[in-house]
Amino acid sequence: MRFSIMFLCTLVYVTIAHTIRVQEKLSAYDILEQYDFPVGILPKGATGYELNSNNGKFTAYLNQTCSFYIHSYELKYKPTIKGVISKDKLAKLKGVSVKVELVWLKIVEVTRIRDKLQFSVLGIASADFGVDNFLESPQCGCGFHCNNLQKIGDVSSI
Ligand SMILES: *[C@@H]1O[C@H](CO)[C@@H](O)[C@H](O)[C@H]1NC(C)=O
Repeated sequence: MRFSIMFLCTLVYVTIAHTIRVQEKLSAYDILEQYDFPVGILPKGATGYELNSNNGKFTAYLNQTCSFYIHSYELKYKPTIKGVISKDKLAKLKGVSVKVELVWLKIVEVTRIRDKLQFSVLGIASADFGVDNFLESPQCGCGFHCNNLQKIGDVSSI
């Protein structure tokens, strides 16, 4: 008897939790996940998004310009990021740049190939990073290492 009440409570709880979740409006991060991207390709501070699910036109809004380091690259996000999203591919990207040898270059495409993310710069050069680098959204300024600043030294030597 006791067991079945517990079971029932659990069932009711799960049902309610699920319903609430479904009713919540999706965030820009949820949209990325729907297209098989990790949330960490978008920094914290997204205030909203627009998505045309017919043609994949996607715009994400950040509350500020954002820059941080990933490994030894400095990335910069404008407050408005645009692109065309499809499963595992974010094309025609606008608003994200990377600093390479003192020069800011635009990142025009992000493609997921299994457990790697490939960032293409101007469609010519590209750099690959493991998807597991992006499981959490970076924070502007300290990026992926806000709680563990010591790690920056380790990572930049990779
Ligand atoms: C933007 O959002 C982030 C994350 O929520 C927050 O830490 C930051 O202070 C915000 N910046 C501004 C300018 O409001």
